[in-house]
Amino acid sequence: MILDVCCGSRMFYFDKNNKSTIYMDIRKERFDIHGKHVNVNPDVIGDFRNIPFKNEMFNLVIFDPPHLKWAGPNSIMKGQYGQLDIDTWQQDLEKGFDECMRVLKKHGTLIFKWSECQISLMQVLAVTKYKPLLGNQRGRTHWIVFYKE
Ligand SMILES: C[S@@+](CC[C@H](N)C(=O)[O-])C[C@H]1O[C@@H](n2cnc3c(N)ncnc32)[C@H](O)[C@@H]1O
Repeated sequence: MILDVCCGSRMFYFDKNNKSTIYMDIRKERFDIHGKHVNVNPDVIGDFRNIPFKNEMFNLVIFDPPHLKWAGPNSIMKGQYGQLDIDTWQQDLEKGFDECMRVLKKHGTLIFKWSECQISLMQVLAVTKYKPLLGNQRGRTHWIVFYKE
């Protein structure tokens, strides 16, 4: 089983209705902004800081949290990707990593996606005690793999 804790509008999926995946997000909403349609329609409404599942249930967890501290209140970026809390983002993401690892089975994989617009990859990895196994270290969009021993 697969859990995506921040599914948003499932943009990065080849199959947006994969039967093995539970799509979770903190919001369910549908709107148009500056000519763009946003449709966030999770299976489960939940918070990555307190994931509503038992320990060690998933083989694969996907964590693609908001990556912006600052975004225009009416911007496409905010509508599509959400926004971090400027004061608490480190604690929020730390809790998110803890929760993703908690619901992951032993020998499971966590995929963390990060865009280095306002916060560097090193800054965000510093919030968690978990160490990544591998990931692309060039470019601005990162796909980072964690493995649960
Ligand atoms: C970068 S977007 C995800 C984009 C998605 N991967 C896609 O393919 O479209 C981040 C998402 O995290 C959601 N989010 C923000 N805070 C959250 C929280 N505490 N728990 C769960 N989801 C959250 C936002 O609503 C937003 O849809």
